[in-house]
Amino acid sequence: MSILNIPRFRPTTSFREAAAFFRSFLPGGLDRAEQFAAGLSGCALAGNPVVLAPSARIALYWLLNALDIGPGDQVVTQAFNFPAVPAAICATGAEPRYIDLMPGTFEADWTTLEGVIGDRTKAVIATHLYGNPADLVTVKEVCDRRGVVLIEDCAQAIGATAGRRRVGTVGEGAFFSLGPTKNLTLLGGGAVSTADPDRAVRILEMASAHRSSGVGTSLRLAAKAAAMGVATHPVVFSAIVMPILKLFERRGTDLVHEVMQEKAGPLTGIEGARLPSRQMAAVGVAQLTRLEGTNRARVRNGWYLRSRLAGVPDLVVPPMRTGSVFMSFPVLHPRRETLALELRLRGVDTDFGFMADCSTIGVDASLASPCPNAECTAREILHLPVHPFLKKRHIDRIADAVRDTLQGLS
Ligand SMILES: Cc1ncc(COP(=O)(O)O)c(C=O)c1O
Repeated sequence: MSILNIPRFRPTTSFREAAAFFRSFLPGGLDRAEQFAAGLSGCALAGNPVVLAPSARIALYWLLNALDIGPGDQVVTQAFNFPAVPAAICATGAEPRYIDLMPGTFEADWTTLEGVIGDRTKAVIATHLYGNPADLVTVKEVCDRRGVVLIEDCAQAIGATAGRRRVGTVGEGAFFSLGPTKNLTLLGGGAVSTADPDRAVRILEMASAHRSSGVGTSLRLAAKAAAMGVATHPVVFSAIVMPILKLFERRGTDLVHEVMQEKAGPLTGIEGARLPSRQMAAVGVAQLTRLEGTNRARVRNGWYLRSRLAGVPDLVVPPMRTGSVFMSFPVLHPRRETLALELRLRGVDTDFGFMADCSTIGVDASLASPCPNAECTAREILHLPVHPFLKKRHIDRIADAVRDTLQGLS
């Protein structure tokens, strides 16, 4: 049995990206932002134009503006969500409307969409959460029939496919997050894509009002990615990080979660937000060359772990569709805190994730309708590791640890 522990995630940036980052400082080094945008467009977005943004939330804000969505309008999204998404809707002056999840899943119950769409509804955001493509056939059919725009949240799903199409190419627009833990990263930032040339021009104009991140920011982001890489190296993680995590866990704190969690709140600082720098774009170009390989490894690990967890009593393994890129592997359990603690004792690190029941954000308290399934999923979700560095033996170990723990708990 291996004595090395399994971290909850590992960034895919390494020496190749570091070399690209530092090469971009050399005299005559090219700004690779356009090359990256064209590469992303070509490899994952069927050639639709891509515009880089300071973050996915600002990319969404631009997209909504380019669609002329603002005060008096409504935008439908799922209640179990990343809080910055409703915050971006609110920042335009529009009002979010929420759909609950299907029970035991993390996908919106699209059968209720028709009833939520009203006269003021201008757009629906379908979230491809955890790399799993949403049911775009159903959503698109309702949106087209009701004359409502479909936007795809691809923050966690670059390279995933829905049917025969890449996610991000079915709706009128899509947005992407390129933070350090995503499956394609610029160390930070985001992107937006739309097939409509006029909207693309308007978004480009919005982007041109922003300056690029400075060298200091780029170096800080690179240092953060390097620190994550070192801390999640199996030896360092086992010898130093995991013992510290266990120490904090005794006080009821998940240190990594605390450090990485951001406070939910209104979307601020839009005007001053900076675009990815030339150094960050250089990292992105290097990353693009490995996207297919790392996605393939995630998919292999994800489906294998699903097969190993089939039939484990009391554990809900939410459905995943063909075409998912398994950004993570969520399971649901009513005693997730105990499960997480026991798994850590067995050398497997996990996370509760950063999604929340957002059903009250931006909604007048008297009009808010509860979303019990979103609330339940937010309370019970636990992410098991499936990152691309893991091999079959690691997945076996994770599955065995889950089975053993749950046997002990029953
Ligand atoms: C599903 C989803 N949407 C939107 C976002 C916002 O991305 P960003 O932090 O780049 O604004 C995230 C961030 O992780 C996300 O997971």
